[in-house]
Amino acid sequence: MQQISLNGKTILVTGAAGFIGANLVRRLFRDAPESVVVGVDNMNDYYDVSLKEYRLREIEGLAKNRQWVFVRGSIADRALIDSLFAEHQPDIVVNLAAQAGVRYSITNPDAYIESNLIGFYNILEACRHSYDGGKKGVEHLVYASSSSVYGGNKKVPFSVDDRVDNPVSLYAATKKSNELLAHAYSKLYSIPSTGLRFFTVYGPAGRPDMFYFSATKRLAAGQKIQIFNYGNCKRDFTYVDDIVEGVVRVMQGAPDKKTGEDGLPIPPYAVYNIGGGQPENLLDYIAVLQEELVRAGVLPADYDFEGHRELVGMQPGDVPVTYADSAALERDFGFRPRIGIREGLRAFAEWYKAYYG
Ligand SMILES: NC(=O)c1ccc[n+]([C@@H]2O[C@H](COP(=O)([O-])OP(=O)(O)OC[C@H]3O[C@@H](n4cnc5c(N)ncnc54)[C@H](O)[C@@H]3O)[C@@H](O)[C@H]2O)c1
Repeated sequence: MQQISLNGKTILVTGAAGFIGANLVRRLFRDAPESVVVGVDNMNDYYDVSLKEYRLREIEGLAKNRQWVFVRGSIADRALIDSLFAEHQPDIVVNLAAQAGVRYSITNPDAYIESNLIGFYNILEACRHSYDGGKKGVEHLVYASSSSVYGGNKKVPFSVDDRVDNPVSLYAATKKSNELLAHAYSKLYSIPSTGLRFFTVYGPAGRPDMFYFSATKRLAAGQKIQIFNYGNCKRDFTYVDDIVEGVVRVMQGAPDKKTGEDGLPIPPYAVYNIGGGQPENLLDYIAVLQEELVRAGVLPADYDFEGHRELVGMQPGDVPVTYADSAALERDFGFRPRIGIREGLRAFAEWYKAYYG
């Protein structure tokens, strides 16, 4: 593995106003104060834009004495990405910009093709050309994949060695495509690349389209929440700080460039899972969420939970279980997620109370 120091480097983070991206940028300010962090985000309105603006304000609040550049624009805009690479010459690229969400991909497929395929292709092309003219170029491309690539995988825990050729949503298909495209580019142009399959990431200022967040909003408004697959779901929930810890560690270890027996380069390519490794029953997760919402004062102590929940069937594109085998991450980077749902949901509930009152 090629060790990479972050300090003094230029780091491009796409999706920097997003949930994971904003947390990563703040962490880089702390861990790599000498680095230049360039963030790009198109600030689209898939969910409440004020949340993205809030995250950017938090970043700005910490940006004093840090080299921080924010560019508002789309990774699907080839000219913009090329000019960003020409101007900043990033050493490390972390691609988190994407159209996320499984259900939305059923009604809005265009957004997935544009951001996740064309956008990612533009990033790969820019990485490829970063070596033109003998320049040092990009040392490591790290990009977000997703646990959704495992589809209805029956074998648990999900391992990166499992076959993942049966996506059950367009979102999953685009994420698997990212891994395939990255493999071809790593092979052809020796771009060191690492894909990270994140498992259901949650935390303060997270994504309002995700269950814990939308359920909280509905409960706080006195509305009913729907629990899919009659509660027979297991999710490997991962607290955002654990994800960021994993990303920062992975950024510092790029797959080696080696030559195969045929004299051709072996692609410096890797894929890892990052997941809690402790799948929780959805109903248990909801019970902890409710307790923490009461504790934080978002809901009154005598709230009638039973009266506000409705068990419904499975939704198209959903999978009944996700369960990460993070052994490879632990082997190569000495880390596996450690924050449990009690601690994580407490932080979310307290943030929610402070943010929404
Ligand atoms: N949160 C999770 O549970 C989870 C799980 C698996 C994978 N992921 C992946 O992790 C990454 C980050 O997810 P997140 O939860 O922070 O989502 P997010 O939606 O909060 O962040 C993505 C950000 O990218 C931006 N964006 C979207 N399309 C863009 C484009 N074309 N150009 C520039 N910016 C664009 C959005 O405005 C948003 O701020 C995504 O790739 C997502 O697919 C997330």
